[in-house]
Amino acid sequence: MKELLEKIHAAGLEEIKQVKNLEALKEIEVKYLGRKGELTNILKGLKDLSDEEKRIIGPATNGIKLDLEAKIKDKQSDLEAAEIAKKLAGEFFDITAPGTMTAHEIGHIHPLSRVQQEAENIFSDMGFTVMDGPEVESEYYNFEGLNIPADHPARDMQDTFFLKDKSEQKHGRLVLRTHTSPVQIRTMEKYGAPLRIIVPGRVFRYEATDASHDTTFYQVEGLVIDKNISLADLKGVMAEFLTRLFGKEVKVRFRPGYFPFVEPGLELDFSCLICNEKGCSVCKHTGWVEFMGAGMVHPNVLKAGGIDSTKYQGWAFGFGLTRLVMMRYGINDIRVLQSGDIRFTQQF
Ligand code: PHE
Repeated sequence: MKELLEKIHAAGLEEIKQVKNLEALKEIEVKYLGRKGELTNILKGLKDLSDEEKRIIGPATNGIKLDLEAKIKDKQSDLEAAEIAKKLAGEFFDITAPGTMTAHEIGHIHPLSRVQQEAENIFSDMGFTVMDGPEVESEYYNFEGLNIPADHPARDMQDTFFLKDKSEQKHGRLVLRTHTSPVQIRTMEKYGAPLRIIVPGRVFRYEATDASHDTTFYQVEGLVIDKNISLADLKGVMAEFLTRLFGKEVKVRFRPGYFPFVEPGLELDFSCLICNEKGCSVCKHTGWVEFMGAGMVHPNVLKAGGIDSTKYQGWAFGFGLTRLVMMRYGINDIRVLQSGDIRFTQQF
């Protein structure tokens, strides 16, 4: 019996020594120490042995059992450590390696927004306040207040979108503003004189679209009201604005023009930057580029704004921001600006 025990012990130790993985080790444990294991069987059979044999075989079996248990435990932690080391080596993750994903797309500032921001900055530097007004306007602010009564032929100058809302408005029907000029009246009503403002904003005209016309475009309105304001100030402000915007000396000139809300009314041109006034296709060989309408604010308009025209006077202008952007970046179709096509905006 003793010999058998020693053989089991030695075989167990050898098997534990040879074992290569945790699964096989588990099998060895079952084989020697499990409920149907070899040592358990011997312990179960103790009751059939003589007292003397019991006294020797019992403790010897338990001793072997404890020894094998301890050896299995040691082996188990060795194997586990080896397994973790192997896993770590296999799963090595280099956090410094360059990524394989393409970089996230970042947005682009729309050229209209970019030039608008530049214009706002330049005029702010010259002491102008940037104002805002509603895109859905009343006929009063868009026309009457600006000295354009209902039967005035100038209403046809700007084809208007009317809103379907038939309810009687205090200030007439609702329209999509055809220009930023209504904000002149709104600002005069709210703040009085003196004033020095610009109003960048979206305007709408009911007209057929082509490469140079869209139903929606952007304007920048300007209004200065004070004592002793003259058109010489306007000339200086616009020459300074365009020179700063284009980053090179720009000249401006006036031509007579007509708008019901200014008197005298005029058109302002600037010297062609492409050909330096020599004449090219951009300036239609005149050396000058038509830029905006302007003039001294009509007394009726000052009156509508609640300003005393015997004490104050001023000038106003309105230029097309959209056209300015097209000139600046050489864009030859106005429709791409509002197309939402990112292939366009990605270029800026
Ligand atoms: N509102 C005019 C237009 O849209 C421009 C303008 C503004 C002219 C102010 C004179 C003074 O055409």
